[in-house]
Amino acid sequence: MTPYGLQTEQRCEPLGVGERQPRLSWKLESDRRGAAQSAYRITAAERAADLDDPDRLIWDSGRRESPDGLLVPWDGPALRSATRYHWRVQVWDETGSPAGSAQSWFETGLLHHEDWTAAWIGRDPAAQPHVDPPGEEDLPPMDSPPLYLRREFQLEHTPVRARLYATARGVYEPRLNGERVGDVELAPGWTEYHHRLQYQTYDVTTMLRTGANAIAAIVADGWWCGYVGFDRRRPARHYGDQPALLAQLVMEFADGSRQVVTTDASWSEHPGAIRAADLLMGEYVDRRWHVPGWDRAGCPDARFVAVAVLDATPGPLVAEPDHPVRVVTEMPAVEVTRRASGRYVVDFGQNVVGHIRLTLRGAPEGQRIVLRHAEMLADGELYVANLRTARATDVYVCGGDEVEVFEPRFTFHGFRYVEIDNHPGELVTADIVARVAHNDLPWTGRFRCSDPMVNQLQSNITWGQRGNFVAVPTDCPQRDERLGWLADAQIFAPTAGRNADVSAFLARWMRDVVDGQDADGAFRDVAPVVSLHREAAPAWGDAGVIIPWYLWRTYGDRRVLADSFDAMRAWVRHIHRHNPDLRWRNRTGNSYGDWLQVDVTTEREVLATAYFAHSTHLVAQAAEVLGRSDDATELRQLHARIRDAFIDSYVHPDGTVEGGTQTAYLLALAFGLVPQRLVAAAVGHLAADIEKRDHRLTTGFVGVALLCPVLTEHGRTDLAYALLHQTEYPSWGYSIRHGATTIWERWDGWTDHAGFQSPAMNSFNHYSLGSVGDWLYGRVAGIDQTPSSVAYRELLLRPQPGGRLTWAHAEQETARGTVACGWSIADNRITVTATVPPGSTAVLQIPTADPASVREGDAPVAGQPGVLGVEPSAAGATLRLASGRYTITAAAPDAVS
Ligand code: BGC
Repeated sequence: MTPYGLQTEQRCEPLGVGERQPRLSWKLESDRRGAAQSAYRITAAERAADLDDPDRLIWDSGRRESPDGLLVPWDGPALRSATRYHWRVQVWDETGSPAGSAQSWFETGLLHHEDWTAAWIGRDPAAQPHVDPPGEEDLPPMDSPPLYLRREFQLEHTPVRARLYATARGVYEPRLNGERVGDVELAPGWTEYHHRLQYQTYDVTTMLRTGANAIAAIVADGWWCGYVGFDRRRPARHYGDQPALLAQLVMEFADGSRQVVTTDASWSEHPGAIRAADLLMGEYVDRRWHVPGWDRAGCPDARFVAVAVLDATPGPLVAEPDHPVRVVTEMPAVEVTRRASGRYVVDFGQNVVGHIRLTLRGAPEGQRIVLRHAEMLADGELYVANLRTARATDVYVCGGDEVEVFEPRFTFHGFRYVEIDNHPGELVTADIVARVAHNDLPWTGRFRCSDPMVNQLQSNITWGQRGNFVAVPTDCPQRDERLGWLADAQIFAPTAGRNADVSAFLARWMRDVVDGQDADGAFRDVAPVVSLHREAAPAWGDAGVIIPWYLWRTYGDRRVLADSFDAMRAWVRHIHRHNPDLRWRNRTGNSYGDWLQVDVTTEREVLATAYFAHSTHLVAQAAEVLGRSDDATELRQLHARIRDAFIDSYVHPDGTVEGGTQTAYLLALAFGLVPQRLVAAAVGHLAADIEKRDHRLTTGFVGVALLCPVLTEHGRTDLAYALLHQTEYPSWGYSIRHGATTIWERWDGWTDHAGFQSPAMNSFNHYSLGSVGDWLYGRVAGIDQTPSSVAYRELLLRPQPGGRLTWAHAEQETARGTVACGWSIADNRITVTATVPPGSTAVLQIPTADPASVREGDAPVAGQPGVLGVEPSAAGATLRLASGRYTITAAAPDAVS
C-alpha cells in the first residue's frame, strides 16, 4: 500500500500558500484486498535531502494512529514567509506493518502584512488622457486603454531563487525580460474585492540574468472597473475607477543576500497595442501601437511617463488558495465558410468558453479585422441577440508584419461560432483555434455508458462546467451576466464534484458567499455581490448552507464547515425570525420559485418552506459534526417543527402535495417532509404526473436535480430512465437532438414550434439543468456513499441497470483514492466491477434475479478475500466489501426496467 497524490491545502505542490497551518492530505493505493491505513507519520524539512536525516527534520509528527490521510493540519514550527517546506508521509497498514511512503512540498507565500513593501501603481490621473479617436459603436469602450507598466533594474549575479508576488485591481499579465510570466489567465481572479484580493506567486528564477533586466505588466479593467453583470454601473464601476498593479519581485543569491524590486514611483507607463479590453465587451488590439521591446531592458522609449502611486498600503491581500484560470485545452476549427458578404464564419463544433487565436499572413498594415462570437446561428448568421449588452467583439488592426498572431488576453467569450469580417486573405481552419480557459481543476471523474445520447449528455454537462467555472461558479459565460448565482452553484455542486476536484474552488468561493451575508443573516442571490442587494431567494441563499455541508461530506473539509457555521446558522435564524409560523413567506427576496419550470407553477411557499426545513436540518447536522451540541439540539427541534408545519399545511391526507407539481413532490420526498405512511401515495402521484405527460418533466432549476434521484430512491428507476431517454420537448434529449453541445439555460431555448426563446434570457451554456450528472455517477453507474460516510469512507455502490443501457461505468478520484463502479449485461448475466480504495469499505448491491448466482470468477462470492458478507436483499444480493478491485457476476436482474 502506498500513499500518492499528496496535497497541501487541496493542491499538489502549491507555490504561495497563505495558510499558517496548511493541511496535508494523501490518497492510498494497493493491489491487496483489505488494505487500510492504521497509522501515519509526517516528517518535514526545509531541504528534500534533509528528510532522510533525523537531525535535520523540523517537524516529526511521530506515529499517529489514524485511518485517514485527510487534511492533517501542519503541526510543526511556525512557518516562515516565502519558504519551501518538504514533507514526507509514511503509512502503516491494517496489520500494523510499515507500508509505503511518499513526499511532496509546498511553499509559503507572504504570510505577514509587513512582508509587503510594494505600493499600488497606476496611470497618473493628471497625465494626458489616452483616449482614442474612434468611438465606434460596436467596439469595446476605449476611454481607458490598459496600462503597460515597466521598470528596469540591474543584477550583479543571477539569483538562486526568485519569486514574483503580484496582483492587480483589474486583470493583469506579468512579464520579465520580454517573456510572459506564468500561464494564469484573468489573474487575480474574482473575489469579494472589498474583503479579499488574491495575489499570485510565480517562480521566475530562470527568467533573470546578470546586468540589466526589465519587469513589466499589462493591466486591464477586468472585474475591478470593467463591465460586470447586467447593470449599467460603468463609469461608476463596482470596485474602483481605475486599474492598478501591485508587485514584488524577491531575488535570493548564492551568498544569502536578497534584492527586492517592487512597484513604486520608479515605474513608467504608456499605452500599448491593446487599446481596450473588457471581459464582456471584448478586446481591441491595434498592433501599430506596439512599442517594440517595451518589456525588455534598454527600451529607450521616451513616451513612457512616470506612474502615479495610488495607494501605499497593500489592502486585503490573500494568497490565491485554489487552481487559477488557465488555457486548459484547444479546440480546432471544424469548418470555415465564407458568406456572400465576404465574412467568414468559423464553427468549432463545440460551445466553449475562452478566446480565439488567429494567425494572419501578409496582412497589410492598418487592416482592421472584426471578430464577433456567438453560441448559435440563425439562418446561417450569428445569433447574438441573447448576449444582450455584451458585445463579445474583438478587433485586430494589423501592424503589417509578415506573420501576426492575434490572441486576446483580457476578455472571454462563450461561443461555438466566430464571424470574421475583413479578413485580408484566405482563412483556413489551421489558422484559427479556440483556446478554452477555466479554473484548472484536476479532472477527476469519468462516466460512460452504452448509449451515445447519454454520453453526449455527460459531455454537455462537463462542457457546461468548464464554461462556467471561470473565476467563480457562474450562471452563464456569454451574456452580460456571468455572476456567481447561488442556486445554480448549489444545484450543480454534486455533479461538479463528480467530474472534478472542486474542493478548493468552492471553499474559496464560499468565503465570498459568507462575506455577502447582510447584518440580518441574509445571504444574497449572487457572490461576489454586485447588482442584487436584497436578501436571497429560497433555494438561492440556501447554497450558503448546502455547499459547506457538501464540501464536508465529499472531501472531509471540516474547516470550511467551521468557518461557515455562524453564517449558516444566521441564515436559518434570519428565515425563522421573519417567519415565526415556520412557513417561509416573508423575506423571500426575488422568490424565483422553481426557476424556468415548464407549463406549471410550483407554489413558492411550498418550495421555500421545504428549503427552510432542509437547511435547518443540515445546519443541525453541521452543529453535531462540530461538537456544538446546544446548537444541534435547538436546530433539530426547529427542524421537527418546520417539518410538522410543512406537513400540516401542504401534505394532504391522500398523499398529494400542495400544488401537485413534480417539483412539489420531489422537494417533499427528497427532504423527508412526507409522513412515512403517505410516502408510497406521494410517489404514486408523482409517477402519475410523469406518466400522464408521456414521460415528460415539468421541473425547473430546483426540481430537476431531485427528479431522477427521487424516482430511483423510491423504486421508479423505470421512470427515471424514461426521462433520461426522452427526446421530445422538454427533455435533455430534445436539446441534444437539436445539436446541443452544452446544457441550455431553458428547456425551450430553441424549439421546433417556437424557434428561439426570448433573447432577453436565453443562454446556451448554463449548467443548472445538468444536475442530473450526479445521478448518472451515483445511480446509473452506482457510486455513492452511505449517509453517515465522509469523503467516501463507506461506499454505497448501487448500480441500476435500466432503460436502453447495456452497460455503464464511472470512475472517480476521491480524497481517499480511486473509486469505480460499473456494470454490463450480456447473455443473461450481469457483471459488476467495483474499486474500493484502501481504508474504505463498500456495500455493493448486485441487481440479480438470483442471489445464489453471485460469483467471482468461477467461485461463489462468499469467502473470497475482501468479501466480508453476502446477503440476499430487495435489489438482489448485497455484498460487504473491504478495499480492493472486484469483478462479480450474477444472473441478470429479472426486469431491466
Ligand atoms: C440567471 C440564473 C439565476 C436566475 C435567478 C438568471 O438571470 O441566469 O441562472 O439563477 O437569474 O432566477
